[in-house]
Amino acid sequence: MRVPLVIGNWKMTTTHVEAKDLAQQIVERLGSLHGVEVVLAPPFTSLAAVAPVLRGRGIGLGAQDVHWEDRGAFTGAISHRMLEALECTYVLVGHSERRKHFGESDHLVNRKIQAALRGGLKPVLCVGEEEQERSGGQLRAVIRRQVSQGLEGIDSGAAERLTIAYEPVWAIGTGKSAKPEDAAEAHDVIRRQLERIFGPDRSRTVRILYGGSVTGENTAGLAARAEVDGVLVGGASLDAQSFAAIVHGGWETRPITG
Ligand code: PGA
Repeated sequence: MRVPLVIGNWKMTTTHVEAKDLAQQIVERLGSLHGVEVVLAPPFTSLAAVAPVLRGRGIGLGAQDVHWEDRGAFTGAISHRMLEALECTYVLVGHSERRKHFGESDHLVNRKIQAALRGGLKPVLCVGEEEQERSGGQLRAVIRRQVSQGLEGIDSGAAERLTIAYEPVWAIGTGKSAKPEDAAEAHDVIRRQLERIFGPDRSRTVRILYGGSVTGENTAGLAARAEVDGVLVGGASLDAQSFAAIVHGGWETRPITG
């Protein structure tokens, strides 16, 4: 069974004071949730402030990144142990902004996925093609590579803790969301790749989210596609009303697949 999942990625925007306030507004707007799982991923420095706001409200806490080692001399880095101690359950790994601005390779992303799974976290592996890769006909090859290298050596037993986010780079923060049918096509490629890696039964539990300029206006079209198991939201998750419009925009009512 794949319950739809909506994740808000706040990126490097909020102070811990602003994050707490935004989390409170979101909790109030969302009320009680049915048939949809919601996770907020504030910056590291906001996790401790947001955790008590979400506690007992049915909304999960996620981090935006994790280091690949459990502990050690890695100045400035954050380990999965630290995240677990702050009540984080999810962690984004390999977001295109990490790949682009911090030089993260598929190999490094894989080490981070391994670290998250070594701990008790649920990693969200982010994949997606650049505009020129799509126009050059490389969409399938790129996302297949990102999925298989990102999941190298991962035991099929871990599949139930895993989520994939398909985020075409050209759609992130641009207002140019992928069409639902294009998202569905890419999700299908990812699903087939997961079947090759984990086998048909285990791969069925993995949720595949779409991310890239998701709004309250385009969420219903995405929710209508059985291939799309939820959304990863950046900009629109920074406003309680817009985020609530996305959560309430078709995810709760659709039949659960799996
Ligand atoms: P966006 O960001 O919704 O602002 O396009 C999505 C993401 O980067 O996860």
